[in-house]
Amino acid sequence: MKGVILAAGKGSRLFPVTHHIPKPLLPIANRPTLEYAFDRLKEIGVREIAIVVGDNEGEMRAALGDGSAFGLELSYVRQTEPKGLAHALTFAESFIDREPFVMYLGDAIYSEGFIQHAKRFIESGAANLNIVKPVEDPSRFGVANVDGERITKLVEKPKEPESNLAMAGLYFFGPEIWGVLPGLPPSARGEYEITDAIQRLIDGGHLVLAGVYEGTWFDTGTLDSFLETSAFLTGGKSLVGAAEVQGEVTESVVIGDGAKVSATRLVDCVVLPDANVQVTGTIRHAILGGTVVREGDVMDAILWD
Ligand code: G1P
Repeated sequence: MKGVILAAGKGSRLFPVTHHIPKPLLPIANRPTLEYAFDRLKEIGVREIAIVVGDNEGEMRAALGDGSAFGLELSYVRQTEPKGLAHALTFAESFIDREPFVMYLGDAIYSEGFIQHAKRFIESGAANLNIVKPVEDPSRFGVANVDGERITKLVEKPKEPESNLAMAGLYFFGPEIWGVLPGLPPSARGEYEITDAIQRLIDGGHLVLAGVYEGTWFDTGTLDSFLETSAFLTGGKSLVGAAEVQGEVTESVVIGDGAKVSATRLVDCVVLPDANVQVTGTIRHAILGGTVVREGDVMDAILWD
């Protein structure tokens, strides 16, 4: 099975950090966000992946290359304008050809893998299987109505959700999807929605399955969710809010607005906007926002005001 990772977004909810580094490359618990996607896709036997990129294409190619460093074969396809997930997917059609494939939203990080879901999708012969997860605020997501194992209806960001099952950013498709993308009308928010494309599969009588996800799913697209994900991945070591930190600061400490850091050394850290940072020793492998006063060496780090 091949893979498609959608990673063309500007990361605007994480400005200014994403002015300096594309969102998919932003380190989270010491690893670029996309490496978590690579792990999950490799677990289900995916080796060939097309990454849908946008204006970030140059930096993405430079950082990830041909994928051999990750045991993968990476290709890049360019989404010309940010017009939604279904639009992004169309650029991967010639790469996928008629094979079954998995589509992964580049912002997502998952605590558990998808081996059983992938197996079920292949064995069922379904046109599509979507990972869904019960959430408290379904109106922020694509929402699935499910009858048994089938999805019977999908609505993108419904005002009055009919179910609590959110589309959780991972989709398995057969070649049937290529038949429903052409002519898809844009949604109220002016985007070509993958949920609308899948609704067309349902309306066309194709088998569309739900795979309920039992693990923890993070969408790292906002500062809060980025911090929460980092805390999860680092075993709760992240510091959030107006934290005050002193001494040697190492290992993926992520600090929210108004934080104060007086470090003797600062290594493997992301300190997000509007922190007050003073470092007397080395700064290495770090991204720092806000005011940074430093005395020591800076290696492999991004600093901005
Ligand atoms: C997109 C999809 C939505 C899905 C969500 C998962 O929403 O359109 O169906 O539930 O990703 O993160 P967006 O992030 O574009 O608002």
